[in-house]
Amino acid sequence: MKEALETLREEALGRLDHCISEPEIDHLRVEYLGRKGKLTFLLRGLREIPPEERPQVGDQLNRLRSFLEEQIEIRQKELKTRAKERILREERVDITLPGSRWEQGRMHPITLVMDEIVDVFLGMGFEIARGPDIEDDYHNFEALNMPKDHPARDMQDTFFVSQDRLLRTHTSPVQVRVMESRKPPLQIIAPGAVYRHDDDSTHSPMFHQVEGFMVDHHIAFTDLKGVLTHFLRHIFREETGVRFRPSFFPFTEPSAEIDIQCLLCGGKGLTVDQQNCRVCKGSGWLEILGAGMIDPQVFRFVGYDPERFSGFAFGMGVERIAMLKFGIDDIRLFFQNDMRFLRQFT
Ligand code: FA5
Repeated sequence: MKEALETLREEALGRLDHCISEPEIDHLRVEYLGRKGKLTFLLRGLREIPPEERPQVGDQLNRLRSFLEEQIEIRQKELKTRAKERILREERVDITLPGSRWEQGRMHPITLVMDEIVDVFLGMGFEIARGPDIEDDYHNFEALNMPKDHPARDMQDTFFVSQDRLLRTHTSPVQVRVMESRKPPLQIIAPGAVYRHDDDSTHSPMFHQVEGFMVDHHIAFTDLKGVLTHFLRHIFREETGVRFRPSFFPFTEPSAEIDIQCLLCGGKGLTVDQQNCRVCKGSGWLEILGAGMIDPQVFRFVGYDPERFSGFAFGMGVERIAMLKFGIDDIRLFFQNDMRFLRQFT
């Protein structure tokens, strides 16, 4: 028995020395000290030993059990310490390395220009109103004096969502919505995204407009001209050429379009290598605004008496203004999310 105990002890210690993980140690513990383990097996053999020797052998067995338990625990601690040391070694942080920098974000150039436009009008006492991007046919067309099949609808290639719903083609429907719910005097601007089936260097399928309108007694075309001239002076340089051109919108009468002298080619219409300017397409001017006196028919749609009230309205393309201000010759650059382009604007 004594020899068997000695052999078991040597064998267990040898095996323990080779254990390199916790599961291996657990396995070893069960194999030697478990209910069906090797030591328990020897314990059962006590019965075959003469009674006078049993206490002594029993004592040896118990001491071996305690010894092995102790050794297993020591080995376990050793492995834990080594694992910790390895982690500390492998995952060491070099606190002298420079930290990773967060890049400072910037406003999108369209947001910058939009904010600038809105600020000028807030300074003149206008207030902001908003409407839905998905509009109904009535507010986008019908109430703006464009009945179904009216040829003027063709001027705004429309993305329809259903028979009656569409992505608004301009911000003018906000004018109708505000007038439906409020009475004059009104002095409102409505900034927002609009959508048209257009795509080239000066037309984008999604772009931004700022609609503005003023309704009260005795509002005249001179008021419109005064407000827009003040606005353009703030947004562009004093000496920039501005031109009011007679035009047509079904919801204003009389109507005008306002062009700004092309700042990319200096109004010449030609680039330095004598090519047609891409922004003004050779004309020297870029249309940025539509405007006019609100048509009496629109007033009737919203329940205003056109004999008592008059008003003007205008709608401008924000991307076009941004193109002129920043000297950008392709509207698509605004929407390509190229950081090299976007980083330039502050
Ligand atoms: C309108 O949208 C009218 N609602 C404006 C208006 C409001 C007139 C109130 C009278 C009274 P127009 O279709 O011309 O008008 O568009 C207005 C401006 O949006 C244009 O002058 C131009 O600067 C810009 N614009 C038009 N289409 C595009 C496009 N696809 N991409 C970028 N800008 C555009």
